[in-house]
Amino acid sequence: MKKLVIIGANDFQNQLILKAKDIGYETHVFAWKEGAIGEKTADYFYPISIVEKEKILDECRKINPSGICSIASDLATITVNYVAENLGLPCNGINTTIWCTNKYEMRKKLKNAGVKTPGFIKTKLGKDVDLSGLKFPLIVKPTDRSGSRGITKIFSNNELNKAIEYSIKDSFEKEAIIEEYINGSEYSCECISYEGKHHFLTFTKKFTTGSPNFIETGHIQPSDIDIKLQKDIISEIFKALDALEITNGASHTEFKLDDNGNIGIIEIGARMGGDCIGSDLVYLSTGYDYLKMVIDASVGNSLDLSKKIEPRKTAIKFIFNQEDLNEFEKFKKDNSDEIYRISDFNYDNIGNVADSSSRIGYYIYFLN
Ligand SMILES: Nc1ncnc2c1ncn2[C@@H]1O[C@H](COP(=O)(O)OP(=O)(O)O)[C@@H](O)[C@H]1O
Ligand SMILES: [Mg+2]
Repeated sequence: MKKLVIIGANDFQNQLILKAKDIGYETHVFAWKEGAIGEKTADYFYPISIVEKEKILDECRKINPSGICSIASDLATITVNYVAENLGLPCNGINTTIWCTNKYEMRKKLKNAGVKTPGFIKTKLGKDVDLSGLKFPLIVKPTDRSGSRGITKIFSNNELNKAIEYSIKDSFEKEAIIEEYINGSEYSCECISYEGKHHFLTFTKKFTTGSPNFIETGHIQPSDIDIKLQKDIISEIFKALDALEITNGASHTEFKLDDNGNIGIIEIGARMGGDCIGSDLVYLSTGYDYLKMVIDASVGNSLDLSKKIEPRKTAIKFIFNQEDLNEFEKFKKDNSDEIYRISDFNYDNIGNVADSSSRIGYYIYFLN
C-alpha cells in the first residue's frame, strides 16, 4: 500500500488524513501527543512534535513514504519541506520555506521582485526604531508567528513601545516587523502549484475583528471581487508566488483591495489557508478536490483540475462570545439544512478570545 506522511493531527489537519485514507493511502501522522483527533483517525500515529524535524526524518527513512504533506500550519511546512528534500520527494525548497515563514524575509523578497510592498522595518527590544521612512497608521507584528498573535495597529509614536513588546513576547526569534497599514477589504487567493506552474482556484472574502488584534471571524467563498479586476489580481499574485519560488503544493495569499481595485499583499503561506478555507470551503464552493491536489502534488502525480460537485456559496463563522453563540443557536434552529459541519466548542475562553487558536468553535454553512 502507498504510504503518506502527514505532519500535524489537529482538527483542521484531520480532513487531510481522512482524504488520504479515502483515496487509498496508508497514513503515518506525526504530532505532539495531546489527544488530537488525528491520533485516532491515522493508521499510524507517532507522538513526535511537528518541530522535531530530525527525529521525523529518521522515522520517515524507515517508513519510505510516497510523499509528505501538511495543511494549514507554517510550522509544519518547515518540517515537511526539510524531510521531503532529504528523501528526494517533491516539495518547495529551503529558501521558500524561510521566505514564507518569516514576515520580514517575505517582505524583502517580494519588494526585490518588484511586487508592490508597503514600507517596512524589523526591530527587537532595546533597539532604537527609526520610523522616518514609514507613514502611520502602522501594523506591528511578530516576524515569525501566525494566527493573529501579537498584532497591533498603531496610530502614533506613543503606542510603539507597547506594541513592540506585545509582538516580541509572541515571536520565536524575538523580533517584530513594523509595516505600513494597507487599506481596503480583506481577501485571500487559494492556489495550487505543480512543477512550477500555478493554478488559481478561488478568492475568499475574509472578515476580522479589525483593530487592534485582527482575529479572523469568518470567511465566504466565492468572494465579491469584480470579475473585471480578477485577471490583474491573479497575475500580481502569480508574480509573488514566482518571487517566493513556490513550485509545489498549495498556497494561500492574503491581500487587501482598496476602492480603486489596487491590491496590497499582506502575506503568503506556502500551504493551504487555515480556518477550513483550504480543507473544506474550496471544495464546497468550487467543486475542486483541493485536498487530493495537495496529496497528488506531494507524491508527484499530475493534478486533477476537474470539478467534482456542483459549487455552492459557502461560509465559515467563528464563535467568540455569547452573542455569537445565540446567533448560532438561532441559525441552527432556522436553517439546519444549510449547515455542513459544526466543530466541537471549547467554552473556556468565551468573551475572552485573544488570538485565533482560542476561538470557541466554528460552523460551516451554505448561503444558497
Ligand atoms: N500591513 C497590514 N495592513 C493592514 N492590515 C494588516 C497588515 N498586516 C496585518 N494586517 C491584519 O492583521 C491580520 C493578521 O496579519 P498576518 O500578517 O496575516 O499575520 P498572521 O500570520 O497572524 O495571520 C491580517 O489578516 C490583516 O487583517
Ligand atoms: Mg495571516
